Amino acid sequence: MESNSPAIRLVKVSKSFGDRKVLDQVDLDVKAGETLVIIGRSGVGKSTILKHIAGLLAPDEGEVWVEGQDVAKLKEDEVNELRKKMGVVFQYAALFDSLTVYENIAFRLLRDFKMPHAKALEVVRRKMELVGLKDDLLDLKPAQLSGGMRKRVGLARAIAVEPEIILYDEPTSGLDPVTSEAINDLILDMQKKLGVTSLVVTHDMHSAYKVANRIAMIYDGKIIGAGTPDEIKSSRDPYIHQFVTGSVDGPMPIR
Ligand SMILES: Nc1ncnc2c1ncn2[C@@H]1O[C@H](COP(=O)(O)OP(=O)(O)O)[C@@H](O)[C@H]1O
Ligand SMILES: [Mg+2]
Repeated sequence: MESNSPAIRLVKVSKSFGDRKVLDQVDLDVKAGETLVIIGRSGVGKSTILKHIAGLLAPDEGEVWVEGQDVAKLKEDEVNELRKKMGVVFQYAALFDSLTVYENIAFRLLRDFKMPHAKALEVVRRKMELVGLKDDLLDLKPAQLSGGMRKRVGLARAIAVEPEIILYDEPTSGLDPVTSEAINDLILDMQKKLGVTSLVVTHDMHSAYKVANRIAMIYDGKIIGAGTPDEIKSSRDPYIHQFVTGSVDGPMPIR
């Protein structure tokens, strides 16, 4: 892979569910080491984009490239290898309720990396420290944790595998402002300390401005604009302007 080629590239990706075209020729690049934030209203296809990158969905048309590989062309074991380089922080933390904090964070280390428990425990402790979780939580179950702690566990699990790419789906949704801010700081930390490439999906503009190197807005199946936080803030595009200045749930201007 050339050093200047993007870590993630979507080329004219289209995807329909039934007769609803959710993604319509989406082009998107995420450069190595950058944090790109995708904004857009609920239901526009943000999570669908993430799932294509994680190899959980295949495009109807177009190509999804990750680290120089065309995901749709990979064999199953090659996709698994690629997934090892990725950490995904799912929208509702998506922890296994019946497993302990340790078992959740160590899950892929044990299953995909066949790491012995003693080594996994070491890694888990380090990652918990990095995301600000005390190790006396190791044996608790998710139900015993607050929403913010669950998010941190989800993040610790994502970074346990030392990924080159982290995908975050609505990392601050449902959290109080203080916890949201802590999660934003962690996303910045992951970039600074681990040098990861990050793709963050959110409809929280405060979070977007804080963590993004670049922001892309999706509307009606297409990326309608992309730029630095300042460029997005001062965008004259009526859709972007309305979204970033406030009433996320208000009516969009007539096109
Ligand atoms: N597996 C699926 N089957 C059918 N429809 C889906 C599926 N996944 C997503 N959708 C639909 O596609 C649209 C976009 O979904 P999603 O990507 O989750 O939006 P967002 O994350 O931006 O809120 C929604 O209308 C959703 O109902
Ligand atoms: Mg979503």
